[in-house]
Amino acid sequence: MRIDIVTIFPEYLAPLDVSLIGKAAAAGILDVRVHELRTWTHDRHNTVDDSPCGGGPGMVMKPEPWSEALTQIVPPGTEDGARLIVPTPSGRPFTQRIAEDLATASHLVFAPARYEGIDRRFIEAAAERMPVEELSIGDYVLAGGEVAVLVMVEAVGRLLPGVLGNAESAKDDSFGHSSDGGMAGLLEGPVYTKPASWDGREVPPVLLSGNHAVIARWRRDQALRRTSEMRPDLIAALDSAALDKKDRAQ
Ligand code: ADE
Repeated sequence: MRIDIVTIFPEYLAPLDVSLIGKAAAAGILDVRVHELRTWTHDRHNTVDDSPCGGGPGMVMKPEPWSEALTQIVPPGTEDGARLIVPTPSGRPFTQRIAEDLATASHLVFAPARYEGIDRRFIEAAAERMPVEELSIGDYVLAGGEVAVLVMVEAVGRLLPGVLGNAESAKDDSFGHSSDGGMAGLLEGPVYTKPASWDGREVPPVLLSGNHAVIARWRRDQALRRTSEMRPDLIAALDSAALDKKDRAQ
């Protein structure tokens, strides 16, 4: 997958060089390119913003540099498989389902804005060339979209074949699907490792029993309990078909 990120703060994206995503890039699974938006300005001050039409506080990002950037990164005629992602607190909520969908694209271009956002005409013009997704990572306002890009690239990148060391480990993720062995719609319960006894606290004996069926049932009960505690909205949204008899007894 190719990922292009256009920003006025390229250094904000430095974490993409490390850990899982950095390794995926080194392995050739991901081709990540970070661009400085001001490259596509033509005035002495490399201006990327101006005051909002109609008045009001803050500044709005000008459409011209974004448009030139997109045209250079995705030349006309090469739009196939490309999608433009615009992080914004006024977007659709970014979810695991959307991450899974984005993971099927061959080319993602991210346009993280600063200030009050990007002139609407850029978004409209881009949408005539390729699918555009305006996405929010949560109900709070960041100083800019760069951190949201880091979140989305990590969520998407770890789903690409060959990125996770153990392909199984994505299956039981919180928000997983029942169809891939995960616990559909449930949050993951607690996890433990060795030593069996630490600082007077024990690993739950069932996990050391070697009985896989009993362990699976225990994990599911823990997931149900945690989801009820942390996210009652997810329990309410569960399809009753996703619950088995023993779940319902809880
Ligand atoms: N830019 C500023 N706040 C944001 C948010 N919550 N999600 C995505 N992009 C943003």
